[in-house]
Amino acid sequence: MSEYILELQHIVKRYPGVLALNDVSLKIKKGQILGLIGENGAGKSTLIKTCSGAVIPTSGKIIVNGKEFTHMSPQLARENGIAIIYQEFNNIKGLSAAENLFLGNPIRKGIVVDKKAMEEEAKKAFDQLNIKIDPKELCGNLSVGYQQMIEIAKAIRLNAKILIMDEPSAPLTSKEVESMIAVCEILKSQGVAIIYISHRLEEIFRLSSEIVVLRDGEYIKTLVTKDSNVDELIQLMVGRQLKESYPQRKINTISDETILKIENLCGNGDKNVNLELKKGEVLGIGGLVGAGRTELAQMIFGAVKKESGTISLYGKEINPKCPKDAIELGIALVPEDRKRHGAILHNSINHNINMPIYDHFSTLSKINEKKEKEITLKQVDDLIIKTPTINQIVKNLSGGNQQKVILGKWLAANSQLIILDEPTRGIDVGAKFEIYKIINKLVENGKTVILISSEMEELIGMSDRIIVFAEGEITGELKKNEFSQNAIMALASNC
Ligand SMILES: Nc1ncnc2c1ncn2[C@@H]1O[C@H](COP(=O)(O)OP(=O)(O)OP(=O)(O)O)[C@@H](O)[C@H]1O
Ligand SMILES: [Mg+2]
Repeated sequence: MSEYILELQHIVKRYPGVLALNDVSLKIKKGQILGLIGENGAGKSTLIKTCSGAVIPTSGKIIVNGKEFTHMSPQLARENGIAIIYQEFNNIKGLSAAENLFLGNPIRKGIVVDKKAMEEEAKKAFDQLNIKIDPKELCGNLSVGYQQMIEIAKAIRLNAKILIMDEPSAPLTSKEVESMIAVCEILKSQGVAIIYISHRLEEIFRLSSEIVVLRDGEYIKTLVTKDSNVDELIQLMVGRQLKESYPQRKINTISDETILKIENLCGNGDKNVNLELKKGEVLGIGGLVGAGRTELAQMIFGAVKKESGTISLYGKEINPKCPKDAIELGIALVPEDRKRHGAILHNSINHNINMPIYDHFSTLSKINEKKEKEITLKQVDDLIIKTPTINQIVKNLSGGNQQKVILGKWLAANSQLIILDEPTRGIDVGAKFEIYKIINKLVENGKTVILISSEMEELIGMSDRIIVFAEGEITGELKKNEFSQNAIMALASNC
């Protein structure tokens, strides 16, 4: 019997025009946490989907507990103890935590569902992972972090011995990430093998004993975590050295002219927001998830109506009633929830990127295809969107590349004020740097940027000034010489 619980051998996956995986192998032992890293589009999600049966490999072998398969199916995966935690959970919000845990497989007394028994069993399952969830609580009332934990508990209850997590920390707050890491540690001690995909390298270093690096669908190397470091990982991932984390702006871009002034703004959960923004400035907005930052952006963008107060652009009060009004005023918002508000997944990259600007250079009857193509190619180039052609359907791109398309769409719109809500979530280190360079280019060209981010390092690296939100209010403002993670944290927790 092999000492490995799971082995992938020489996996190849070919799509029309894309060799997503080219001879990739990895192996993992019982009770081991294996990090899986690579740039956007490197093939991480495709690789792990071969283990769940969601992707059928073109060739290669999957060996689970010594049993050999050419491909899996969802049922085979379950029978062989493989579970995947995807970013979109399958929880039903109107059902309780316990009901979700037993979804599709309830405990019955005769023919009736035994709610009480399920609640008791759920409590045991949660206790075992040290998760503090009331089994009776409706899933819709639970935070994303807890919903994810229900998914993990569900997998374990179905006897998963190999748990695969695809960017589990992306939607979580830093506190939730800590709880999730604690759950991973417990599972590891129980002998569960975990494959952990993340763009946050510090998590990979904390959790894993070995790290597999993919690049462009190729297997690059397996590293022993304790003998490696961030620089080496980045070098292997992107195939070159990244010297600095944040590019410097060449000139002072901030002018005396006020572009945006917000006075006593209330609505959408925000209270009495006052702020002024100079043309050419990068204003960072920090705070915990749910502190009111996205809510402010939505009001400026006309996506949600304000209740009272004023928003002025270049000294003139504006009242955008819908995003279209805001776009016409020269305001763009790259939303945080890109799946819901961002791209039309079934349309091409070309179509998505040109969507907000069709009015500018095409009449309804005649679309200027040449111009359209030019604009798309520039964004694909600038943002390093990995795709065989600009006509590729967005749904077929990797997660990170889908996000770049949405970013490209707003950058192409040539707006004056660009609000970026968590622009680098799910984006690999190399592309992050490109996005930072684009932010610099924007302000160097006289545009103004509001950068909402939960990554404090990113706020500190990129902003000219940072304001912090807590519970719908601005709790403070930091100038460049006052920037520190502690200062942001203190304002974010309002103490
Ligand atoms: N159904 C599909 N049709 C065509 N190409 C696809 C399909 N699914 C994935 N690809 C391509 O396969 C490659 C690998 O994608 P994958 O989603 O595995 O990347 P990833 O490493 O998970 O990236 P990310 O970090 O952005 O999530 C990409 O070039 C992607 O566009
Ligand atoms: Mg992916």
